[in-house]
Amino acid sequence: MSSKTAQFWDKQAMGYAAKPVKDQESYEQMLQTVTSRLKPTDNVLEIGCGTGSTAVRMAQHVARWTGADISGEMIIIAKSKDAPESATFMVADADAKFKAAPFDVVCAFHILHLVPDPAETLRSLFKQLKPGGLFISKTVCPGEMGIMPRLIIPVMNLFGVAPPNLHLLTVGKLRAMIVAAGFDVIEERFFGDGKSSPYFVARRPT
Ligand SMILES: C[S@@+](CC[C@H](N)C(=O)[O-])C[C@H]1O[C@@H](n2cnc3c(N)ncnc32)[C@H](O)[C@@H]1O
Repeated sequence: MSSKTAQFWDKQAMGYAAKPVKDQESYEQMLQTVTSRLKPTDNVLEIGCGTGSTAVRMAQHVARWTGADISGEMIIIAKSKDAPESATFMVADADAKFKAAPFDVVCAFHILHLVPDPAETLRSLFKQLKPGGLFISKTVCPGEMGIMPRLIIPVMNLFGVAPPNLHLLTVGKLRAMIVAAGFDVIEERFFGDGKSSPYFVARRPT
């Protein structure tokens, strides 16, 4: 992973930390839904954890929650938060081989459309889950947003403000990639009105 990606996200970190959640009600619903999938003994990995807001809320429900992010600045902010003892944070690429594997659950919130090769990331995470383990993802699919992203992204690129590796995923493409990596999709839904940010729960078969 090029350090250009880390540098881009390092620059976003302070602003990201200060930004309020767009739709708090949907976010709370999602956290509740994720919680219903967790067990107190679970060893969980969260890739692209950002400033750790989700980790600090969720770690109380499991034995171990590892929040990993490519940006050192995001992880500094995450580490500064008052988190349960089960939470740890580390700088790591989503495609890393994690020492804490195998995991019971891997979470990926608003990150799969931002990795260099989402299909490869899914294959790597599949291997690091226990048989029967869960992959839980909610990720924006800009390919569902009509022509606008196709027009705006090249302009953003011109000014260096587009996130690196931004993929124009669609819900169908993302589902197909999850299945191609070997998972069984056991839940698929949306929170709130938006239909461009699907939530998936997928199981590694036993
Ligand atoms: C849109 S933010 C989402 C943060 C958090 N998951 C959330 O839902 O608020 C994307 C995050 O992914 C991280 N990221 C981008 N590319 C990454 C990669 N290849 N590996 C790990 N993290 C990455 C960024 O540093 C950033 O914190």
